[in-house]
Amino acid sequence: MVGDSIRRGKSQRGPESREGFREVPIEQVRGFWDGRPCNIRHSQRQVGTREYFDEVEERKYFVEPHIKDFACFERWRGKKVLEIGCGIGTDTINFARHGARVTAVELSEESLEIARTRAGVYELGGAIEFYGGNAEALAEFVPAEAYDLVYSFGVIHHTPHPERVLEQIRRYVEPGSCVKIMVYNRRSWKVLWIVLAYGKGRFWRIKRLIAENSEAETGCPVTYTYTRKEIRELMEAHGFKVEDIRTEHVFPYRIADYVQYRYVKVWYFRCLPRRLFSWFERRCGWHLCVTATVPEPGLEV
Ligand SMILES: C[S@@+](CC[C@H](N)C(=O)[O-])C[C@H]1O[C@@H](n2cnc3c(N)ncnc32)[C@H](O)[C@@H]1O
Repeated sequence: MVGDSIRRGKSQRGPESREGFREVPIEQVRGFWDGRPCNIRHSQRQVGTREYFDEVEERKYFVEPHIKDFACFERWRGKKVLEIGCGIGTDTINFARHGARVTAVELSEESLEIARTRAGVYELGGAIEFYGGNAEALAEFVPAEAYDLVYSFGVIHHTPHPERVLEQIRRYVEPGSCVKIMVYNRRSWKVLWIVLAYGKGRFWRIKRLIAENSEAETGCPVTYTYTRKEIRELMEAHGFKVEDIRTEHVFPYRIADYVQYRYVKVWYFRCLPRRLFSWFERRCGWHLCVTATVPEPGLEV
């Protein structure tokens, strides 16, 4: 396993440190996600039933189709996957369904309970070990061992100290391991939309506005955003070799219809040819999907 040699100076920086995110108690973060677990309303059926979970999955991968390409579930058959921030377990289930042995960690007890139920519903409980806790202190509750993949989709930007999670991840990798994380893109259409629609153009409040409006439920206590350069530097400061950063995901639907489970695009995206829309997503998407590896000793970045 790779040691903890981290170049701390670089990893501690980040413009949002001035926004107070670093001072947010982890209990407040947990409270937010317990109050509304991520994607909990992706189906109107009774939570915990197979029909409910089927619909949650269908909607998630319909709205965020890039996840399947990014996670590449089939590639991890027979491998060990550590998922950080599994939420209600949509990707967790898919890793397990494709034959991976999964360790899933989640801060929110409410989310974890649903993810556990889900594993039971699909009879995949034997392939998944669940742990509740704060990934900033992962080594305190998850036994240290090397994983083939450490995966974290949309999580580390919601914790007060993302760099601590990356420090912890170092204990669960070895040369050849792969790390895939998704963080939010500051230079995105969504940020522009948030600032114009919710902030009435008050650009100087940008980081607060993003946090308040980044999720389905308003008032998320911590939402950092990154530029490609910032996330690359943060990963490299923790000894990961960044292989690829992809910009994905522009949400094209009218919210009023979307919450009624209808998928009607806003007029300007309806007018945009599909190829142009894809091009736009690659430049202004909300998701920075980062794939990194752990280099052999002596070949560190
Ligand atoms: C936007 S949701 C994403 C959930 C899941 N990865 C998905 O894609 O559906 C963010 C999740 O990160 C979890 N989270 C935030 N901070 C965490 C931390 N420090 N440790 C573990 N989980 C955390 C939240 O509880 C929440 O479930």
